Amino acid sequence: MAETILETKELTVDFNGFKAMTDLDFSLKKGELRVILGPNGAGKTTFMDLITGKTKPTKGSVFFKGEDITGKHPHEIALLGVGRKFQGPNIFDNMTVLENIEVSVKGSNKIIQSLFHRKSKEDKEAIDNILTQIGLIDKKQYPANILSHGEKQWLEIGMLLALDPELIILDEPTTGMTADETYKTGEMVQQMLGDRTILVVEHDMEFVRQIAKTVTVLHQGRFLAEGSLNEIENNPRVQEVYLKEENMDA
Ligand SMILES: Nc1ncnc2c1ncn2[C@@H]1O[C@H](COP(=O)(O)OP(=O)(O)OP(=O)(O)O)[C@@H](O)[C@H]1O
Ligand SMILES: [Mg+2]
Repeated sequence: MAETILETKELTVDFNGFKAMTDLDFSLKKGELRVILGPNGAGKTTFMDLITGKTKPTKGSVFFKGEDITGKHPHEIALLGVGRKFQGPNIFDNMTVLENIEVSVKGSNKIIQSLFHRKSKEDKEAIDNILTQIGLIDKKQYPANILSHGEKQWLEIGMLLALDPELIILDEPTTGMTADETYKTGEMVQQMLGDRTILVVEHDMEFVRQIAKTVTVLHQGRFLAEGSLNEIENNPRVQEVYLKEENMDA
């Protein structure tokens, strides 16, 4: 049985009396690809914030590879192997695609150093590998600012891959993408799974259908349901919650 990579116990956060997350017990096995669903305001982003240290819980704990990481600084958690992509691309517009990946490569903390320091053969291969994975190998010398919105999102995924995280957290990675780009992103996510673990929040049900194995549904900061997408879609409690919204894409 695969080991548990991420676990939360009674995870709770109270924002001045408003409980955005209440007693969430969650567990993820190494190598899993888990989709988090839930209507607007369900606490999905808050959950990612709590895991990555951006928000400190009022109660409860977060464990990564068995280590209690509750309350640690986001930077420390990132160094332990948790990589997160926020919504919308955060890239260096004035640098080329290649340079964006280079500055992100593990160990190259200083931008200047990574730009002028000669890369080892292994580093170059690893970078080319990432550029291929994100579909931008032929555009590596392009300035990042001329990429399409979707390509910029991929570049940011590439920058995340360059840090070689064991757990990748993606918050709505396909926002603003065309249907074609969304499909390609689904393929990318499946490809980068490998020995990694991926946690993804997404509203686009077509994308969810493409990638999902196990789905966890949150509602009003609490656990609502978990199972295959089919089980989730046939779950009366989930249907009830989503009926209040216009549809699953709400
Ligand atoms: N820092 C904060 N202070 C106060 N309330 C907050 C804070 N962050 C989030 N909330 C509230 O917590 C609830 C959950 O928000 P969250 O952003 O986690 O939802 P979400 O599931 O990601 O929604 P969406 O699908 O719209 O992205 C919302 O009601 C939100 O207004
Ligand atoms: Mg959100």
